[in-house]
Amino acid sequence: MEVCRTIVELRQAIARRRAAGRVVLVPTMGALHRGHGTLIEEGRDLAGNDGVLVVSIFVNPTQFGEGEDFEDYPRDLERDGQMCDELGVDLIFAPQAKEMYAGDHSIRVRENSVSQHLCGESRPGHFSGVCTVVAKLFNIVQPDIAVFGKKDAQQLAIIRRMVRDLNFPVEIVGVETVREFDGLAMSSRNAYLDSDHREQAPLIREALATAEELFFKGETRASILIGVAEKIISQIDDSRIDYIKVVDADSFQPLERITDDALMAVAVFVGDTRLIDNVELPIN
Ligand code: PAJ
Repeated sequence: MEVCRTIVELRQAIARRRAAGRVVLVPTMGALHRGHGTLIEEGRDLAGNDGVLVVSIFVNPTQFGEGEDFEDYPRDLERDGQMCDELGVDLIFAPQAKEMYAGDHSIRVRENSVSQHLCGESRPGHFSGVCTVVAKLFNIVQPDIAVFGKKDAQQLAIIRRMVRDLNFPVEIVGVETVREFDGLAMSSRNAYLDSDHREQAPLIREALATAEELFFKGETRASILIGVAEKIISQIDDSRIDYIKVVDADSFQPLERITDDALMAVAVFVGDTRLIDNVELPIN
């Protein structure tokens, strides 16, 4: 038996017991689209020929609030399986909720800073559900690398914090947002949009791109950038802005003026469908 006294020792001991290749995990809730596909392709590259690529497909009940779309969330394991197969996935992990959560489960993982803003404010409990399930997936799969999309920029930042603060031996890789031909960020929820709303939804991207352009011309006042973007988004019929903020790229604290790497993030209800998107506003 080997007794490990330090984290490094422990990790080395674990590493020696692992198979030759790296284990890469792409966590998803299924209803896979080209955005997920890009993450999976990146995962395949990272795993290489010797590695193992795992995709988890699990609509995680603990990250949905009351009145949200847990029941209606699209599920199509057969189609997802086919896509994964075509993209060279080695293993799909598709558990039932009861496999993941004991009836009397009573532990949650909660991030207390980054998650106070934006989606965390609008969806109380959402990010602790995400952290809890991702922590469980990390413990179950024990990946060397896990891949996440920048479309959910706040989620990515929170997962990075969780990994840092809880010492998960997992490297987190972020992948650029994949868009439809007209700029709309790909999302499983786009399927909820009727044809008029679908046609107008790319204005969200246009709003962010316009703010970005202004930023690159030298405008650093958040109120001006937000004002410009708001005006464009308000052209969408039946739309209601949930939030539109310029935040620090690391802490997600709302900013009045951009002095360090920042992000403009938006959540908009188009009809009943809540869509999110963001753009990086880098100083460095
Ligand atoms: P889901 O919404 O299925 O997204 C799975 C992964 O795909 C996330 O990392 C998300 O950021 C990424 N993704 C979604 N649309 C994308 C797009 N258009 N471009 C690039 N990446 C995109 O996010 C979740 O599931 C869950 O919260 C999960 C992390 C699986 C925990 O339950």
